[in-house]
Amino acid sequence: MAMRRRLTSEPCAVVIFGASGDLTSRKLVPALHNLQAEGLMPKETAIVGTSRTKFTDKQFGSRLRKTVTEHSRIKPTDASWSTFGRDVYYVPGDATGDELYQDLKAKLETIDEERGTRGNRVWYMSTLPQFFSTIAQNIGKAGLCDTGGWQRLVVEKPFGSDLESARELNASLNAYFPEKQVFRIDHYLGKETVQNLLVFRFANAIFEPIWNRRYINQVQITVAETLGVEERTEFYEQTGALRDVAQNHLLQLLALVAMEPPVAWDADAIRDQKVQVLKAVRRWTPSEIGGVVSRGQYDGYERVPGVHSHSSTETFVAIKALIDNWRWAGVPFYLRTGKRLPSATTEIAIEFQRVPHLLFAKTAVEELEPNVLIIRIQPDEGISMTFGTKVPGPEVNVRTVDMEFDYETGFGSGTPEAYERLLLDCMLGDATLFARSDEIEQAWEIVDPIQRHWGQGGRPGPYRRGSWGPPSADDLVRGDGRRWREPSR
Ligand code: BG6
Repeated sequence: MAMRRRLTSEPCAVVIFGASGDLTSRKLVPALHNLQAEGLMPKETAIVGTSRTKFTDKQFGSRLRKTVTEHSRIKPTDASWSTFGRDVYYVPGDATGDELYQDLKAKLETIDEERGTRGNRVWYMSTLPQFFSTIAQNIGKAGLCDTGGWQRLVVEKPFGSDLESARELNASLNAYFPEKQVFRIDHYLGKETVQNLLVFRFANAIFEPIWNRRYINQVQITVAETLGVEERTEFYEQTGALRDVAQNHLLQLLALVAMEPPVAWDADAIRDQKVQVLKAVRRWTPSEIGGVVSRGQYDGYERVPGVHSHSSTETFVAIKALIDNWRWAGVPFYLRTGKRLPSATTEIAIEFQRVPHLLFAKTAVEELEPNVLIIRIQPDEGISMTFGTKVPGPEVNVRTVDMEFDYETGFGSGTPEAYERLLLDCMLGDATLFARSDEIEQAWEIVDPIQRHWGQGGRPGPYRRGSWGPPSADDLVRGDGRRWREPSR
């Protein structure tokens, strides 16, 4: 498919709040470095970090060089860093006070003058979520947007902690940043394989006719991690798996699998269809939640430094989602995510109906499973389709085999990271891969009843590290006569 886009953005200053944090050094700056290395960012672009830690421009730069070397797919060389290093600035200060904004204003004005960034700004919120609103207000009040250039505000997830707070956050951001300037990031949407879901569905004529309840029996979406909460306990204790991954990444994947074809490849046409699907996801009532949602906590979580003893934060959640519309009525979408699971795998398994009539003797088809289309988001990005085939020999024996497409074999390695794509899109002003406020609100409407129900008591079921969650996760599918698929990698 030939899709033409203007690939270089206008010059701008990318201002990162929370610049001493993990996300900045592991993801944001490596992404900016790679955009520059691939010539996708104009040479005038400046990166301005800010946080309370006191660094000079130079100290910040050398810290970044280390982390870019460690985390980036393109490694910096002395030559490349001599250019990129000159693009990096730092302004220390407290984002909740006024002084920082005066310092930022002065620095940004100098940068505009010296580099030609034309007053264009990307304001990136990479702090703890409770600061998003204050920072946006402070930027606005201090007049930092009155530059004559464009302004874009990037907000990390989770966007709010429930429907009400998400609405409040929206209103507060919109006071200085109109909706068109707000880019709510869900890094899953920047993953090549996630974008490919739409291409797979809508660039091929053969799948759409069977993409519905008549042919599809169930869909399972797994976002599994082997890591625990690591250093992020302060964030995680306030968030938990439901709000950290299910409300955003899992529901975004569900929306892309289940949405109707959009009328055009543009931000609003695509997001309109995602919103329609999310609206159709059934909201579970308190009495139903016990049977359709499983929550778990891995053994030893409470002993992680920074975690409250008797913490009831869930590190695992599984949800059965039903989509009440013509296409999907009665087809369960089972979603699960967790930390300390047996593999670090994200995949979508679409299981088709069994054949209506079996021609072969039962003994001949012991291994015959229904056809399953597996979309591997990560690792080993690819797509496979299982189908029944005849085992060579004089008898008719049938066995399930895989037909494989593998990204690396197909396109070679070096796929851009999600944040590269998203930062570039933001600089280009393309919001297609960012969540609109109504999408976020629909997602909260789906998870809020669950969170509220949990708030009334009970605890997550314990699970062994390296297992697939608590027993209630198995019960959830077993009740429907099904089982979880073992991920293919
Ligand atoms: C983030 C969550 O959004 O996604 C993390 O906050 C999680 O808890 C991460 O580890 C998973 O992302 P990825 O790209 O590694 O699958």
